[in-house]
Amino acid sequence: MDLKEHLTSQMAQRLFLVHPPEPPPHLLLSTPDQGIYVGKTRWLNVPVFWDYNKLINSHIAIVGITGAGKSYLVKTFLTRAALTWNSNAIILDWTGEYNRWVRQAGGRVITLGRESLNLLELAGLSVSERIKQIMSAFDILLTLHEHVEERYDIEEALEEIYDKVKDPTLVDLVSLMEKKGKKHAARLVKTFLVEGSDFFSRKSTLELEKLANSGLVCIDLHSLPTEEMRSLTGLTILQFLKEKMRREELKEKKGVNLFVVVDEAWKIANDDRSDVITIVREGRKYNFSLIVASQNPTDMHKTIISNVGTMFVLRLVLREYKNYIRNSLNYSDYIDNEISGFGVGDAAVNMIFSQRSEKAHTFLLDKIDGEEPLFVYTIKVGKMTIEVEREQFSRMLYELGLTDEQINLVKVDFERGDGTLEASRLVSLLEKFGYSHTSIMTFLRQLGVEEKFIVEVFSLTRRRKATKGVVDMRLKEEE
Ligand SMILES: Nc1ncnc2c1ncn2[C@@H]1O[C@H](COP(=O)(O)OP(=O)(O)OP(=O)(O)O)[C@@H](O)[C@H]1O
Ligand SMILES: [Mg+2]
Repeated sequence: MDLKEHLTSQMAQRLFLVHPPEPPPHLLLSTPDQGIYVGKTRWLNVPVFWDYNKLINSHIAIVGITGAGKSYLVKTFLTRAALTWNSNAIILDWTGEYNRWVRQAGGRVITLGRESLNLLELAGLSVSERIKQIMSAFDILLTLHEHVEERYDIEEALEEIYDKVKDPTLVDLVSLMEKKGKKHAARLVKTFLVEGSDFFSRKSTLELEKLANSGLVCIDLHSLPTEEMRSLTGLTILQFLKEKMRREELKEKKGVNLFVVVDEAWKIANDDRSDVITIVREGRKYNFSLIVASQNPTDMHKTIISNVGTMFVLRLVLREYKNYIRNSLNYSDYIDNEISGFGVGDAAVNMIFSQRSEKAHTFLLDKIDGEEPLFVYTIKVGKMTIEVEREQFSRMLYELGLTDEQINLVKVDFERGDGTLEASRLVSLLEKFGYSHTSIMTFLRQLGVEEKFIVEVFSLTRRRKATKGVVDMRLKEEE
C-alpha cells in the first residue's frame, strides 16, 4: 500500500471522531524534497511537512515555557533543512544553548567575546545607508526618542567621523563627541563600550560577507558582557543580512537558502522599529526565513505573531501569555485548554496558507517528531500532570543549586515511580535540602505548575508532615 492510500484508509477510520478541524491533507502533505517533516496531526495522524511554497511567507515563530521544546524544534528543523535543501543557517544565540549542538553537527561557533565587530563597518553599504541603520539600532537600544538633542548630536558626529577618519570605530565616535563637548551624547554611546571589552571598538574579525553561505553557524552572543551589547550585535547582523538578501535576486526554487534564528531576543523582537519586525512584515520579499523563539510571548511583537506564515505554540501556562497569543490567532477554547496541558514537544500550529481560498488554521501536533529519543519525567500535581524531559529537569535542578548528589536522590525517586513523582514528594525533598518556600514556589512556577495547584501542593506537603508527626508520636508512645 503506498503512503497516500494508507493515510486515506487511516483517516477514513478516524473520521467519525469528533475533533477540532484540521487543515485539508493536501496542504500538509508534501514530498520529502519539497517540505520539512515536523510531526503528525493529533487526530487524523496526517504527516505535517513545512512547505513554504504553500504558505504566505517562510517566517516562523515559536513560543513555549522553558523546557517545552523550542530549541529542539529549531534543531530538528535546521538539521532536516540542511539535508533536504542544503540550507545555510545562522543562529543568533542569546543564551549560549546551541553551542554544543552546532559543534556536534559539524557547524561553526563564533564566540563574540573573542571575535570583534566594528559597528561602523560599511559592509558594502553607503555611508548614509549605514548611518541610518546605526541610528535605528540606537533608537531602539538607547531609547533616543527621549533624548532628542543627543540623537541629533550622535547623528551629526557619525557623519563627521566617516568624513574625517578612514575606517572609523565606535571609540573614534565617542572621542569626537567628547572633544566637541557633547558629553551626554558621548555617555549614551559609551553604553556599548563596556570596560574590559573592546568588542565594538576594534576592526571586525567577523566576516559578515561570508556568513550567509557558511553552512551552520552559531553566533554566541552569550559571551558578550551586557544585554545592550548582545542586542546591538544581533541587530547589526540582521541589518546586514537583510540588506544582503535584498540585493540578491528572489529565486523561485524549492528550498530555503538561509535560516536565521533569533532565540530569546526580547529587546529586539518587540520593538516596532527593529529589523526583526520589518523582515516578518515584508513577508516574502527576502530570500530567507527568520525563526523567532521566546519563552515569553509578550516579548514578541504582535506583528510577528499575526504575520508569520507558521507559528508553533508549545506549552504555555500563564493566562496572560495564552491570551496574548490567542488574541492574534483566534483559536478555539478547546485548543486554548490543550496548550496548558501539553507535554514536551506537543504543539498547536498555526499556518497561514497562500491559496486564496484557504484561511489560517490552528491544529494540534502530537509531539515534534525529532531526531533524538525523549526521556520524560512526569510530575503529578493534583489533577494536573507535567512532563519534563529528564536532562532538562536535571539542568533546572542544577540551576536551582542542587549538588550532583542531591540531583541523583531526586532522580532515584523518579525512577522508582517509573518516571512519575508526586509534586508534594518533590517539595519535601527540596525542603529537606534546605530550600525556602519562596524558592520552591518559583521553581514550581518555572516548571509550569498552575498557581492554584502550587497552593495545593504545599498544603498537601504540610498535611503529610502533620500525619507523619502523629504517627511518629504514637510509635514513640508505644515504645
Ligand atoms: N519533541 C521532542 N522530542 C524529544 N525530546 C524533546 C522534544 N522537545 C524537547 N525535547 C527535549 O526536552 C528538553 C528541553 O527542550 P528544549 O531545550 O528544546 O526546551 P526550550 O523550550 O528550548 O527551553 P528553554 O526555554 O529553557 O531554552 C531537551 O532535553 C530536549 O532534548
Ligand atoms: Mg531553548
